[in-house]
Amino acid sequence: MLHAWQARAEERYRTRLREALRGRRVLITGASSGIGRAFALDAAAAGGDLVLVARRREELERIAGECRRRGGRAEVRPADLADIGAVRELTEALGREERAVEVLVSNAGVSLRRPLASHRPEDLERLAAVNYLGPAALTLGLLPAMLARGAGHVVHVSTIGTQTGAPLFAAYVAAKAACDHFLRTLRLELGERGIAVTAVHMPLVRTPMMAPSRIYELFPALTAERAARRIGWAVVKRPLRVAPRWATALELGHVLAPGLVQRAFAWGHEPLHGWFGRRLARRDRLRAGRDR
Ligand SMILES: NC(=O)c1ccc[n+]([C@@H]2O[C@H](COP(=O)([O-])OP(=O)(O)OC[C@H]3O[C@@H](n4cnc5c(N)ncnc54)[C@H](OP(=O)(O)O)[C@@H]3O)[C@@H](O)[C@H]2O)c1
Repeated sequence: MLHAWQARAEERYRTRLREALRGRRVLITGASSGIGRAFALDAAAAGGDLVLVARRREELERIAGECRRRGGRAEVRPADLADIGAVRELTEALGREERAVEVLVSNAGVSLRRPLASHRPEDLERLAAVNYLGPAALTLGLLPAMLARGAGHVVHVSTIGTQTGAPLFAAYVAAKAACDHFLRTLRLELGERGIAVTAVHMPLVRTPMMAPSRIYELFPALTAERAARRIGWAVVKRPLRVAPRWATALELGHVLAPGLVQRAFAWGHEPLHGWFGRRLARRDRLRAGRDR
């Protein structure tokens, strides 16, 4: 019964994604890993015409090969989003081509989990470059072609951290929030000119990005495939935002009862992380004992 329902849901997703992508060229940043890779494979299976962007050419080539085997078209455009000159070169090259990019899935990103006092100025610069300035410049570069056609969709892969607040992630969340606001303003400014903007506020997802913070091994997290599906549905339905209800409730809490939310964070954050840290250490000890 459950199996049949899942198969129907899967079929419905594939069909809707195929319809949404028909005739559209889709640029996916961060396609060499994690969520971006998973979405590229979904889009390819739906017959997508894809431009894959990230720094690692070999990884991109491998994933482009997988995309083609699934029935999609895929070409790779290695670029470092932290380099505005490289972003300009990329958009100028795309601008000279006959087929314009109509859907931008702005997914590339880097994270940093570190107490605020240990953030260095160069961390702020690096995180702002990859999570805000690069994606914003890329959007600006692709916008003229979208406006000329009166059709375009920018899907920004953001984080629930910009809704809930995220201790230990100051530089990351600030850069992601800057990009959220940049795109929100763009949407308001463009009005009804055919360009949609969607912010996808992702919860925790099990990808290489979270691997350095081992504590998250104990937290519930989406798989990259489930996260990709949120992007897929965003491409299909073009909502203003996609976010878990609980994160939106906490976001409202920051507005309606900021003192209460502040006290809850102050009371719960450190003890909770301490508790998870101890559980992780105990699990590691048990595993080490078993392996001996
Ligand atoms: N994982 C989570 O828990 C989580 C939660 C909320 C939001 N997100 C967001 O989801 C998005 C995807 O993350 P992920 O979890 O899939 O992480 P991931 O597996 O580490 O992938 C990150 C991608 O970004 C690319 N990238 C990093 N720096 C780049 C640069 N300077 N120029 C071009 N590409 C760059 C990487 O490719 P190269 O290394 O080849 O350049 C890679 O393809 C990110 O925007 C992240 O902030 C993730």
